[in-house]
Amino acid sequence: MANPIRHSTHKYALIFLLLFLLGGCGGSPAAQENSVDPSQLATGKRVYDANCAACHGLGGEGQPNWKVPVNGVFPAPPHDSSGHTWHHPDQQLLEIIAKGGGMPNSAMPPYGETLTEAEREAVLVYIKTFWGVREQEFQAQITRQRNE
Ligand code: HEC
Repeated sequence: MANPIRHSTHKYALIFLLLFLLGGCGGSPAAQENSVDPSQLATGKRVYDANCAACHGLGGEGQPNWKVPVNGVFPAPPHDSSGHTWHHPDQQLLEIIAKGGGMPNSAMPPYGETLTEAEREAVLVYIKTFWGVREQEFQAQITRQRNE
């Protein structure tokens, strides 16, 4: 099944990326949002290493040739700056983590039952440490935009 939500977000993500690259990001409160609670980060790492690393890689590097399906199933994408996780706002990423992947025959399991909401939020906070500053700022901006 196609995922129209993800598609339209992609378009917006590109527009925001352009604005971001052209205009810079002066005065953004991203620095404040980047300051994370160490105990939440520790929970996130524990949850990630135990549940996600087998597919997405310990450092978020993903599986090899992740854009090419094998027997109709896509390998796990990277969560680091080379992937597209940072193109999506928090709301969408948390939904994927809770409900599972949107691709046909997706290998991405739903964690809505097996992880608590606090654990799902913590694992996302941990995933963000795989990104560079620009990716973090960009993603913080599209997350704010989604909340407006
Ligand atoms: C069995 C392999 C597997 C495991 C385990 C797994 N994933 Fe995934 N994940 C995938 C695949 C494959 C995708 C690609 C999307 C799809 O198929 O719909 C994906 C996609 C995602 C996405 C969307 C990425 C993007 O760039 O849009 C997020 C976020 C995500 N996974 C987070 C997690 C988290 C957090 C965990 C652990 C709690 C986890 N995944 C565990 C296979 C896995």
